[in-house]
Amino acid sequence: MSSYDLVVIGTGPGGYVCAIKAAQLGLKTAVVEKRETFGGTCLNIGCIPSKALLHASEMFAEAGHSFDGLGIEVSPKLNLKKMLAHKDATVSANVGGVAFLFKKNKIDTYQGTGSLLGGGKVAVTAADGSAQEIEAKNIVIATGSDVAGIPGVEVEFDEKTIVSSTGALDFQKVPGHLVVVGGGVIGLELGSVWARLGSKVTVVEYLDTILGGMDGEVAKQFQRMLAKQGMEFKLGAKVTGVSKTRKGAKVTFEPVKGGDAETIEADAVLVATGRKPYTEGLGFEKAGVALDERGRVKTDAHYATSAAGVYAIGDVIAGPMLAHKAEDEGIAVAEMIAGQAGHVNYDVIPSVVYTSPEVASVGRTEEELKKAGIEYKAGKFPFTANGRARAMLHTDGFVKILSDKATDRVLGVHIVGFGAGEMIHEAAVLMEFGGSAEDLARTCHAHPTMSEAVREAALATFFKPIHI
Ligand code: NAI
Repeated sequence: MSSYDLVVIGTGPGGYVCAIKAAQLGLKTAVVEKRETFGGTCLNIGCIPSKALLHASEMFAEAGHSFDGLGIEVSPKLNLKKMLAHKDATVSANVGGVAFLFKKNKIDTYQGTGSLLGGGKVAVTAADGSAQEIEAKNIVIATGSDVAGIPGVEVEFDEKTIVSSTGALDFQKVPGHLVVVGGGVIGLELGSVWARLGSKVTVVEYLDTILGGMDGEVAKQFQRMLAKQGMEFKLGAKVTGVSKTRKGAKVTFEPVKGGDAETIEADAVLVATGRKPYTEGLGFEKAGVALDERGRVKTDAHYATSAAGVYAIGDVIAGPMLAHKAEDEGIAVAEMIAGQAGHVNYDVIPSVVYTSPEVASVGRTEEELKKAGIEYKAGKFPFTANGRARAMLHTDGFVKILSDKATDRVLGVHIVGFGAGEMIHEAAVLMEFGGSAEDLARTCHAHPTMSEAVREAALATFFKPIHI
C-alpha cells in the first residue's frame, strides 16, 4: 500500500493548491479526484468557463452597442458554436495546467472516488469499480459543493431546458426567454451572458433585493443598470414550482408578502438558488468526521475535523463558497501540517460578481456597520467624473469607501463599475495592513486610470474629492 504524508481528496482550487503547497514544503503528497480532469467545479463547470462566456458575450454586446460611440462601425454576428468552443478550450488549458503542476511537484494522482476508511486509510474506487487503498498521516477533505436546488420544491434538471449553472454554460441555441430562479451571483452572471446574446431574461428572487448580503446601495444601483440592459426582475417572489412544458418550461412563484401566484412560461429555466457542501459517500461516519447543523464538515480554527489527522477546507466547511477562500485555506492547512504557521484573514476576503459592469467588495457593508453599532464615515466617487472612464465609455457606477469614524481605518470598500474586480485589490492590500482612508488618499495613483476613483472616494471620506 502506498503511503503518504498527505492525501488530498478533491482537486478544486482548495485541494489542488493545498497539494502543491504541501509538496513545495517537502511533504510526500497525493490527490484523489473522481472527475476525469482536475480543477473541480471552478475550472471545469464554474468560474473558468463562465468567465470565458462572460468575456465573449461582453465583447459581442460592446461591438453591437458601444463601438459605434467610439467611431467603429460593425454589425456583429453571433457564432455560438465558436463561442462555446472558446469556453471549452479555456477549460482544457486550465485543467491541463493543474495536471502539469501536479507532475512538476511530484504529486501522485489517483483517479476515482475517495472514501475514508478510518485509521489514516483512504479507499479509491475507479469508475470501472476497481478499488485500491492508500495510507496517509494526514488527510485533507476538499470535496467542495454541489447544486442545492430549491428547498421544498422538486426540480428535475435535464441540463437542457431546466438547467443548473452547468447546463447554463452549454445552451446550444440562445433561449428566447430564460427565467432565472435566484438573483444571486450565479443567476446574475449567467443570466447576463444570455441576455447579452439575445435572450429575454427574467430573474425571480425571494428577497426584495438582488445580491442579498452585498452593500444595499450598490445592489440597488446595480439592479438599475441590469434593468437598463434589458433584464427583468421579480423581487420578493418565492418560486414554488418549476416544470417542463411541451414548448419549454414554466416557473410558478408567489409574492413573499402574500397574494396570488403567477406562472411564467419560458424556453429555459436556470435554477441558481445556492449550493450545498459535498459530503456524500465519503465514509465520514466510519472515520468519525462530524458535520454541523447545516451539513458542513465541522472544523476548528486549524481546519481539524473531529477525526484525528483529518482536515477540511473550502466549500465543504463554513464560510463563503468562494474559490479564493478555499485556496487560502488550502495553503494555510498545508503550512500547518508541515509544522509552520498558517493563517487566513476572514475579514479581508474580496468578492467579485463578474457581470458588466462588475461588482466588487471587501470588508463590511454599510448595513453591517450600522447593525454592529460602529460609527463610520462614507466617501463616494462616481465614474462619470473619472477621465479614463469617460474615454472608454465606461462611466456607469461608483466607488464607496467606509472608514472608522474614530480611527479612519478602512472597514469596507464597494465598487460597481468596469474593472471593479481588479481595482478591489488595492483596497484588500490596504485593509490587510490596517490602512486608513487617508493612507489611500495620499497614495499617488497613475493618471488616467479608473483606480483614481478609489483614491477620490477615500478623499471623500474625510475631506473633499478634487473632481466633483
Ligand atoms: P446565492 O446564494 O448567491 O443566491 C441564491 C439566491 O436564490 C438567493 O438570493 C436566494 O434568496 C434565492 N432563492 C432561494 N430560494 C428561492 C426561491 N424559492 N425562490 C426565489 N429565490 C430563491 O447562490 P448561487 O447564485 O446559486 O451561487 C452559489 C454559490 O456559489 C454562492 O455561495 C456564490 O457565492 C458562489 N459563486 C460565486 C461566484 C463569484 O464569486 N463570482 C460565481 C458563482 C458562484
